[in-house]
Amino acid sequence: MRILSLILVVWVQSPVFLSLTVGSSKAKVEVHENTDAVLSCEFKTEKETSPRIEWKKKGKDITFVYFNGKFSGSFAGRAKIEGATVTLHSVTQKDSGEYRCEISAPADHNSLGEVNVTLNVLVPPHTPSCEVPSTVISGAGVELHCRDKLSVPPPTYTWYKDNKALSSTHSPDSSYSMDTAKGTLKFKTVSKADSGLYRCEASNSVGAPKSCVALHMKVIEYQLSMTTLIAGAVGIFLLILMCCLGVCLCNRRGCCQKKEQKGGRTKVSSPPPPPIRNPKNYKHTQSFMI
Ligand SMILES: *[C@@H]1O[C@H](CO)[C@@H](O)[C@H](O)[C@H]1NC(C)=O
Repeated sequence: MRILSLILVVWVQSPVFLSLTVGSSKAKVEVHENTDAVLSCEFKTEKETSPRIEWKKKGKDITFVYFNGKFSGSFAGRAKIEGATVTLHSVTQKDSGEYRCEISAPADHNSLGEVNVTLNVLVPPHTPSCEVPSTVISGAGVELHCRDKLSVPPPTYTWYKDNKALSSTHSPDSSYSMDTAKGTLKFKTVSKADSGLYRCEASNSVGAPKSCVALHMKVIEYQLSMTTLIAGAVGIFLLILMCCLGVCLCNRRGCCQKKEQKGGRTKVSSPPPPPIRNPKNYKHTQSFMI
């Protein structure tokens, strides 16, 4: 048994297993905006005493972060390296992405090694932009929108009506449906009771929730204006009908030719007043029709 474990120790410590190894104590790094991010890269060489260390960032193209003993591009002056572990100071959302630590030790059996480290910079909620129509017609379908594109992870949205949170669980008798991931509040058909002050709140796990300024949505009754419109149209139709009738009667009697009989003609051809109860409505409709 002793011999067996001795053999095992010797085998484990054999040169093949001592060749260049590269690893990371943390392959997925999540930090808040404006804090430091540590991108860990640990390596062991077999014989090589001065291995080459390089860090690259994968984007649309691969860019150098650390090359030839220096930080390059946007990383210059705001990063440090200890061993092969890089610390980025005061990170922003732009620093999120996949990084790769590459070690080359030409003298070693395994001369190349690499490890990938993913950095995710977390961003607390920003004030969302809210889209609330100021006036909508009763019975119409309406969608309210809420957006906060900057937060990481993407926020969930809650709509408030008159400072009361609307329930996201959709019951069949409620007039709206809410998508907490997209930020939409949808009314299939709005009614007068849906009038009110609407605001939306964006929240994620990183920071305090943020809300937009409440906006007023007013639901007006379309029914009333529709009735007015129909009444007006009927009125005008009757007016035209009376005119035609008047002209026909006039022509048949031949009164139009007799200019002297002004009184009689006027009496026959002048149309009766339109059968509209409210003259104000009539006037409004007429101007609308023109
Ligand atoms: C690191 O990611 C690259 C792709 O970006 C992949 O080709 C490579 O195999 C990865 N390396 C390791 C050690 O996982």
